[in-house]
Amino acid sequence: MSATHRILVLNGPNLNLLGTREPDIYGRVTLDDIEQACLDHAQDLDMTVDFRQSNAEGELISWVQEARDNHHGIVLNAAGYSHTSIALMDAVKACGVPCVEVHLSNVLRRESFRHHSHIALAADGVIIGFGARGYLLALDALAMIFADFEDDS
Ligand code: DQA
Repeated sequence: MSATHRILVLNGPNLNLLGTREPDIYGRVTLDDIEQACLDHAQDLDMTVDFRQSNAEGELISWVQEARDNHHGIVLNAAGYSHTSIALMDAVKACGVPCVEVHLSNVLRRESFRHHSHIALAADGVIIGFGARGYLLALDALAMIFADFEDDS
Protein backbone atom coordinates (compact mmCIF):
# COMPACT_ATOMS: atom_id res chain seq x y z
CA MET A 1 0.00 0.00 0.00
CA SER A 2 1.16 3.53 -0.71
CA ALA A 3 2.43 5.51 2.30
CA THR A 4 0.69 8.60 1.04
CA HIS A 5 -2.86 7.96 2.22
CA ARG A 6 -3.84 11.00 4.23
CA ILE A 7 -6.93 10.48 6.41
CA LEU A 8 -9.08 13.21 7.89
CA VAL A 9 -10.65 12.11 11.20
CA LEU A 10 -13.47 14.46 12.14
CA ASN A 11 -15.30 14.66 15.45
CA GLY A 12 -18.50 16.59 16.00
CA PRO A 13 -20.10 18.40 18.91
CA ASN A 14 -19.47 17.46 22.54
CA LEU A 15 -16.84 14.87 21.67
CA ASN A 16 -14.27 17.27 23.15
CA LEU A 17 -15.89 16.35 26.49
CA LEU A 18 -15.13 12.63 26.22
CA GLY A 19 -13.67 11.29 29.44
CA THR A 20 -16.09 13.19 31.63
CA ARG A 21 -19.21 13.22 29.43
CA GLU A 22 -21.76 10.51 30.33
CA PRO A 23 -19.02 7.97 31.17
CA ASP A 24 -21.61 5.22 31.62
CA ILE A 25 -22.26 5.52 27.86
CA TYR A 26 -18.95 6.73 26.43
CA GLY A 27 -16.44 5.42 28.96
CA ARG A 28 -13.44 7.31 30.36
CA VAL A 29 -11.41 7.51 27.19
CA THR A 30 -10.60 11.08 26.13
CA LEU A 31 -10.49 12.49 22.62
CA ASP A 32 -6.72 12.94 23.04
CA ASP A 33 -6.47 9.20 23.81
CA ILE A 34 -8.43 8.42 20.64
CA GLU A 35 -6.23 10.73 18.58
CA GLN A 36 -3.08 9.02 19.88
CA ALA A 37 -4.52 5.57 19.16
CA CYS A 38 -5.39 6.68 15.62
CA LEU A 39 -1.90 8.13 15.05
CA ASP A 40 -0.31 4.86 16.25
CA HIS A 41 -2.59 2.63 14.19
CA ALA A 42 -2.22 4.81 11.10
CA GLN A 43 1.55 4.21 11.19
CA ASP A 44 0.92 0.45 10.96
CA LEU A 45 -1.31 1.07 7.95
CA ASP A 46 1.09 3.51 6.25
CA MET A 47 -1.41 6.33 6.62
CA THR A 48 -1.19 9.79 8.12
CA VAL A 49 -4.02 11.14 10.26
CA ASP A 50 -5.26 14.69 10.51
CA PHE A 51 -7.49 14.61 13.64
CA ARG A 52 -9.93 17.45 14.36
CA GLN A 53 -12.98 18.29 16.49
CA SER A 54 -15.55 21.05 16.20
CA ASN A 55 -18.82 21.94 17.85
CA ALA A 56 -19.82 23.96 14.77
CA GLU A 57 -21.74 22.37 11.90
CA GLY A 58 -20.38 24.84 9.32
CA GLU A 59 -16.79 24.15 10.29
CA LEU A 60 -17.29 20.40 9.93
CA ILE A 61 -18.83 20.97 6.50
CA SER A 62 -15.86 23.13 5.42
CA TRP A 63 -13.44 20.45 6.61
CA VAL A 64 -15.30 17.73 4.67
CA GLN A 65 -15.12 19.95 1.58
CA GLU A 66 -11.37 20.41 2.16
CA ALA A 67 -10.86 16.63 1.99
CA ARG A 68 -11.61 16.65 -1.74
CA ASP A 69 -8.20 18.26 -2.39
CA ASN A 70 -6.16 17.34 0.66
CA HIS A 71 -7.10 13.85 1.86
CA HIS A 72 -7.71 10.34 0.54
CA GLY A 73 -10.41 9.36 3.01
CA ILE A 74 -12.53 10.51 5.95
CA VAL A 75 -13.48 8.96 9.29
CA LEU A 76 -16.46 10.89 10.61
CA ASN A 77 -18.12 10.84 14.00
CA ALA A 78 -20.56 13.70 13.47
CA ALA A 79 -22.05 13.06 16.93
CA GLY A 80 -25.46 14.75 17.28
CA TYR A 81 -25.25 16.21 13.77
CA SER A 82 -25.40 12.66 12.38
CA HIS A 83 -29.10 12.64 13.23
CA THR A 84 -29.92 16.17 12.08
CA SER A 85 -27.60 17.53 9.41
CA ILE A 86 -28.66 17.17 5.81
CA ALA A 87 -26.01 19.78 4.94
CA LEU A 88 -23.23 17.63 6.38
CA MET A 89 -24.59 14.60 4.51
CA ASP A 90 -24.56 16.65 1.28
CA ALA A 91 -20.92 17.62 1.94
CA VAL A 92 -19.96 13.94 2.38
CA LYS A 93 -21.81 13.04 -0.84
CA ALA A 94 -19.89 15.76 -2.69
CA CYS A 95 -16.43 15.18 -1.20
CA GLY A 96 -15.32 12.53 -3.68
CA VAL A 97 -13.31 10.43 -1.20
CA PRO A 98 -14.41 7.38 0.83
CA CYS A 99 -15.97 8.08 4.21
CA VAL A 100 -16.49 5.71 7.15
CA GLU A 101 -18.95 6.82 9.82
CA VAL A 102 -18.17 5.95 13.45
CA HIS A 103 -20.16 6.05 16.66
CA LEU A 104 -18.61 5.08 19.97
CA SER A 105 -21.90 3.90 21.41
CA ASN A 106 -24.32 1.43 19.87
CA VAL A 107 -26.82 4.05 18.76
CA LEU A 108 -29.32 1.35 17.75
CA ARG A 109 -29.68 0.39 21.41
CA ARG A 110 -30.39 3.97 22.44
CA GLU A 111 -33.24 6.48 21.92
CA SER A 112 -35.10 6.11 18.62
CA PHE A 113 -33.98 9.56 17.40
CA ARG A 114 -30.43 8.14 17.28
CA HIS A 115 -31.45 5.23 15.05
CA HIS A 116 -31.34 7.29 11.88
CA SER A 117 -28.14 8.85 10.59
CA HIS A 118 -28.16 11.16 7.57
CA ILE A 119 -24.41 10.58 7.30
CA ALA A 120 -25.00 6.84 6.81
CA LEU A 121 -26.79 7.63 3.54
CA ALA A 122 -23.55 9.13 2.20
CA ALA A 123 -20.89 7.01 3.94
CA ASP A 124 -19.27 3.90 2.50
CA GLY A 125 -19.89 2.10 5.79
CA VAL A 126 -20.76 2.59 9.44
CA ILE A 127 -19.07 1.26 12.60
CA ILE A 128 -21.06 1.53 15.82
CA GLY A 129 -20.80 0.34 19.38
CA PHE A 130 -17.10 -0.57 19.70
CA GLY A 131 -16.04 2.51 21.64
CA ALA A 132 -12.71 4.09 20.72
CA ARG A 133 -11.72 0.94 18.84
CA GLY A 134 -14.33 1.89 16.25
CA TYR A 135 -11.98 4.59 14.98
CA LEU A 136 -9.25 2.00 14.43
CA LEU A 137 -11.70 -0.30 12.67
CA ALA A 138 -12.67 2.64 10.46
CA LEU A 139 -9.01 3.15 9.51
CA ASP A 140 -8.82 -0.59 8.71
CA ALA A 141 -11.94 -0.25 6.56
CA LEU A 142 -10.40 2.64 4.61
CA ALA A 143 -7.20 0.59 4.11
CA MET A 144 -9.37 -2.20 2.71
CA ILE A 145 -11.18 0.21 0.38
CA PHE A 146 -7.85 1.60 -0.89
CA ALA A 147 -6.46 -1.93 -1.41
CA ASP A 148 -9.57 -2.94 -3.37
CA PHE A 149 -9.24 0.19 -5.47
CA GLU A 150 -5.56 -0.51 -6.19
CA ASP A 151 -6.40 -4.14 -7.14
CA ASP A 152 -8.99 -2.90 -9.61
CA SER A 153 -6.77 -0.30 -11.24
C1 DQA B 1 -22.24 9.49 19.21
C2 DQA B 1 -23.71 9.08 19.23
C3 DQA B 1 -24.59 10.29 18.98
O1 DQA B 1 -25.96 9.91 19.02
C4 DQA B 1 -24.37 11.35 20.06
O2 DQA B 1 -25.12 12.50 19.77
C5 DQA B 1 -22.94 11.66 20.25
C6 DQA B 1 -21.95 10.59 20.21
C7 DQA B 1 -21.32 8.30 19.53
O3 DQA B 1 -20.13 8.38 19.20
O4 DQA B 1 -21.76 7.31 20.12
O5 DQA B 1 -22.58 12.80 20.55
O6 DQA B 1 -21.90 9.94 17.91
